[in-house]
Parts: sequence; structure tokens; C-alpha cells
Amino acid sequence: MSKPVYVLNGPNLNLLGLREPEIYGRETLADVEALCRATAKDFGLDVIFHQSNAEHELIGWIHEARGTACGIVINPAAYTHTSIALHDALKASDLPVFEVHISNVHAREAFRHHSYVSPVAIGVIAGFGISGYAAAIRRLAEVIR
Ligand code: DQA
Repeated sequence: MSKPVYVLNGPNLNLLGLREPEIYGRETLADVEALCRATAKDFGLDVIFHQSNAEHELIGWIHEARGTACGIVINPAAYTHTSIALHDALKASDLPVFEVHISNVHAREAFRHHSYVSPVAIGVIAGFGISGYAAAIRRLAEVIR
């Protein structure tokens, strides 16, 4: 049995579908979870799916993933742009990490242009809507094959 992929979501993503739909679309976090599970299933992978508004909780799940997961797909949301702690935790996970953003952060405010997560990610996807999660899982499956 292969190890599961951890799909982690940062602050405010619980409001997906309601929050700024012109930027983030109408799909909900439940839709993201269903998409991730369906995509991972094609590769025989299970998904551990979490969202939190608290940095320490995301860090706890990254620690848990170390040794138990095949990789991490993470949309760190606003912590992308602020969190050295997430950077350190992801680096310490020793896992392939993929960073996903629903919106194209580079076409938005300047404070969204820098990511503390990108230097520890194998790949970064931005602006593909929730399809970015599916693309990240597909690429993870390729990388770990
Ligand atoms: C986001 C982009 C971030 O800048 C923002 O803080 C989010 C969501 C995205 O998915 O496009 O909350 O990560």
C-alpha cells in the first residue's frame, strides 16, 4: 500500500466559493477535496486533506507527513508570503512538495509576489483555479513513480 499524499490548505480557504469569487471562483473547499481524491485515485494514492486558519496546525500536519506521506501538496494561502516557519517545516519534511495557488499571485498585489514556500517546492502552480491541485497531484505521482 503506497503512502498517502497530504493536501494542506491555509487560512481563509474554508471560505472558498464565498470569498472573492471573482478571484477564487465558485468552487468550494469540498469541491477541491473531491477533485484531489478523484485525481489521486487514478494513481492509486490516498489523500489526507486538511485546512486550517492556524499556522501551528499546518506545521503539525507537515511534521506528521514526514515519514508517513509520499508528498505534500500545499496551498499555504497568506502564509505563503509570511511564514519562515512553514518554509522550515516543509524543508524538514524531506518530502516532494508542490505549492498551489488558485489565483495568479504574480498578477496581483506586490506583497503576493514573494513566497517563502517556493524555495522548498519542486513545483509551483498559480492561476489555474482549483485544477492546479489536480495538476500538482499528477506531477507528484510522476515524481514518486
Ligand atoms: C492564494 C493566494 C494568496 O495570496 C492568498 O493569500 C490566498 C489564496 C491562492 O490560492 O490564490 O489566501 O494562495
